[in-house]
Amino acid sequence: MLLIVCSLPLVAMLTGCDAKIEQFASNTLYSLTLAESRSASMDAAQTDTSAVLQQAFGTPNDPKWPSDMLSESARSLIDVDRLHRAAGPISSLQDGSHLGLYREHCVHCHGLSGDGFGPTSLALNPYPRDFRHGIFKWKSTRRNAKPTRQDLRRTLVHGEAGTAMPSFSVLPDDELDALVDYVIYLSIRGEVERELLAAAVELGYDETPPEAELQIRLPLAGDAPPASDSQATSEGAEATAEIIQEVINEWVAAEDAVVEVPAATTVSSTSDADAIERGRELFHGQIANCVGCHGPQGNGEAVTLDYDDWTKEYSTRLGLTPTDRDAMKPFRRAGAPKPRPIVPRRLQGGVFRGGGDGETLYRRITQGVAGTPMPSLEVTETESGKGLTSDQVWDLVHYVQSLGKP
Ligand code: HEC
Ligand code: HEC
Repeated sequence: MLLIVCSLPLVAMLTGCDAKIEQFASNTLYSLTLAESRSASMDAAQTDTSAVLQQAFGTPNDPKWPSDMLSESARSLIDVDRLHRAAGPISSLQDGSHLGLYREHCVHCHGLSGDGFGPTSLALNPYPRDFRHGIFKWKSTRRNAKPTRQDLRRTLVHGEAGTAMPSFSVLPDDELDALVDYVIYLSIRGEVERELLAAAVELGYDETPPEAELQIRLPLAGDAPPASDSQATSEGAEATAEIIQEVINEWVAAEDAVVEVPAATTVSSTSDADAIERGRELFHGQIANCVGCHGPQGNGEAVTLDYDDWTKEYSTRLGLTPTDRDAMKPFRRAGAPKPRPIVPRRLQGGVFRGGGDGETLYRRITQGVAGTPMPSLEVTETESGKGLTSDQVWDLVHYVQSLGKP
């Protein structure tokens, strides 16, 4: 038996704490961005994309996973039972277990569709993450790869020091697992939506959809498999299926994209003054040039004016200036938060959003931070003008760690 509890007044107010939310809002911000860059009308594309998303991924109260079009490894990426625990309105079962975890803990910041535009988001700096881009910052994998489940779990357990992202270490393991599944689900659904909208422009959508053969739709159950040369699967359905499979496969590949961290071959540690001095020189040197963004001794006082990729998409990449309020108005109306410059971190003080242990910092320095101007750095076998050796990266790690010590 289901017992509905609306015990959290804030959440109850925001979500209505009922089953009325039946649809995910569509990505009007990205549609507008495409409309501007490709001079196409996106209405028909939005309609067909939303229909496909609902068939493949369901609704906020009844999520689905498109298992029948996936390989075995892709199918098992998400556990549909866990998805149902995280989705839907807040309630609890008689055994005390909770349902609607995402709406209980996350929605007021990250928004129902994971767009990062929840009601409290505008007051926060940095803004909550928009999961729909499929870009995550704090991960153990290569810069362009997805995070592993373990990475997302780490973010949930530790939160992000110095940001509004709280720690959920009090939640039981099975609830954390369900929330990890749900973040992956929202991110995949959101990225598929973006890719379908972009593909629609290529397929010829404008004010009206293109001919039936090119329309965005799921392959029908009776359609011939893509390998056969029968006419049953249309080009539009094939493109749709491919996009869904590719986005999901990137998540499957995350475990193989973890960056190996070699041990230092020379003496390098946070208590080794020579290593720290070598790291200090590299930090201020030409190859790493950390000082150019993080300031001398990582004091955070270098003057840089740049934006993250989420913001650039609807501003600089369209030739618009983020500080131009009139130019930003239509995007703000479509849900974009007010553009804010991204600030390189002050590394003194030792507060790390993404973790401050050696392995994490090694990966941060070599991979940079996805979605932000923090660049990646090439690791070379020998010292050269192009990159740093792994021992030099370790020296940098220890210098950065030493900055946080009083
Ligand atoms: C009070 C607001 C708030 C709440 C509640 C909140 N978050 Fe966040 N979250 C943030 C902010 C802010 C960031 C972005 C920080 C940044 O840019 O580094 C973030 C970032 C994230 C990220 C991205 C990490 C990365 O590697 O880039 C994930 C995943 C995430 N949150 C998941 C969740 C989940 C799941 C919940 C609910 C269990 C939740 N958050 C609840 C504010 C919140
Ligand atoms: C082009 C500018 C730029 C350069 C060059 C740069 N960074 Fe960064 N760095 C950033 C930005 C911006 C962030 C913040 C990302 C965020 O929080 O969203 C960042 C984040 C970091 C973090 C993560 C801090 C945390 O809170 O977890 C570390 C560590 C770091 N930088 C170290 C370095 C080191 C060491 C170098 C030199 C090898 C370097 N950075 C070079 C811009 C830069």
